[in-house]
Amino acid sequence: MILVTGGAGFIGANFVLDWLAQSDEPVVNLDKLTYAGNLETLASLANNPKHVFVQGDIGDSALVDRLLAEHQPRAVLNFAAESHVDRSIHGPEDFVQTNVLGTFRLLESVRGYWGALPAEQKTAFRLLHVSTDEVYGSLSASDPAFTEENKYEPNSPYSASKAASDHLVRAWHHTYGLPVLTTNCSNNYGPFHFPEKLIPLMIVNAMAGKPLPVYGDGMQVRDWLYVKDHCSAIRRVLEAGRLGETYNVGGWNEKPNIEIVHTVCALLDQLRPRADGRSYKEQISFVTDRPGHDRRYAIDARKLERELGWKPAETFDSGIRKTVEWYLDNAAWVRNVQSGAYRDWVKKQYEAA
Ligand code: NAD
Ligand code: TYD
Repeated sequence: MILVTGGAGFIGANFVLDWLAQSDEPVVNLDKLTYAGNLETLASLANNPKHVFVQGDIGDSALVDRLLAEHQPRAVLNFAAESHVDRSIHGPEDFVQTNVLGTFRLLESVRGYWGALPAEQKTAFRLLHVSTDEVYGSLSASDPAFTEENKYEPNSPYSASKAASDHLVRAWHHTYGLPVLTTNCSNNYGPFHFPEKLIPLMIVNAMAGKPLPVYGDGMQVRDWLYVKDHCSAIRRVLEAGRLGETYNVGGWNEKPNIEIVHTVCALLDQLRPRADGRSYKEQISFVTDRPGHDRRYAIDARKLERELGWKPAETFDSGIRKTVEWYLDNAAWVRNVQSGAYRDWVKKQYEAA
């Protein structure tokens, strides 16, 4: 048994789906179901006895203590977080609450549980904390990519809250000996991505005939990691990562935002051409830049390759094509997520249960 937190969000849900497709080991999935949590993503697991969904907060110590005692997981994987930089600029408190205080409470619950385990289970137990490359701050065009040795220099309320959580995880290892692993990954993309983030927003807006808002000059650079590659990296780190270590996870796909938007438009032009025969690029609209916008992130994922033999399976070309196709094939998921209909769906599931 493993306990996954935030498993109704974009990456956590992809992870749970992948895990149960490959393993017989059951998953307890603890998720608060904020605006970003979506049980519809997990609909294919509705009758799967290996998936136990629990709505709740990682900061609810009584609940987490009870789940740990009841299910006796051999590992806890912490995906739960507030994750959107723009939201963190307009309302940072939720980020501190969940990412900092929530992680602290989770660590304390896990420490209590782990401390009382019999010797063999205690040695085998792992807490894997999922974090971001944004903790390292912003690079100039000539800087080398982030390695695990880079200083933490977070710039947004989001990245500062994630940096704080990483420090807590580190401290619980050094102080209490908690067997932790931390992964810092780049921008994920793929199926079930909430359309507030760049790639799904561009696909969804393009199809709806809406403007494609590009912040500033569109020359900010991100590294893009296909979400299923991220899931395989996490499985690998859980299996063989060295205790107390951090591992950077990236796709080796550094690209300026405007290039991403052009690629999405070109794929849509090909797969679902506009009725008037013109390119979706005509919908691009340069808008006011995000305050404190980090210029460049880039991940050096060689430690993970060298020590654990992990490499991404997708190129950006293959991953972005799959992603655009997924959004075109799953219009109902997109409609529900935008209309809030999935909240009614969630409510119905609970009433039925
Ligand atoms: P997401 O916003 O899509 O999902 C987060 C999930 O956590 C949601 O289901 C939400 O309901 C749940 N949640 C929020 N607060 C909670 C709480 N207090 N208790 C329990 N559940 C709670 O985020 P994501 O994109 O899936 O990101 C997952 C993790 O990966 C996060 O820790 C994020 O910081 C990290 N990360 C994401 C990216 C990315 O590109 N998406 C990149 C680097 C790191
Ligand atoms: P985002 O998906 O929000 O991820 P993050 O800020 O965590 O990297 O944004 C990715 C990049 O795209 C980032 O440089 C901001 C930019 N962006 C836009 O230009 N327009 C948009 O509408 C959004 C959501 C993001």
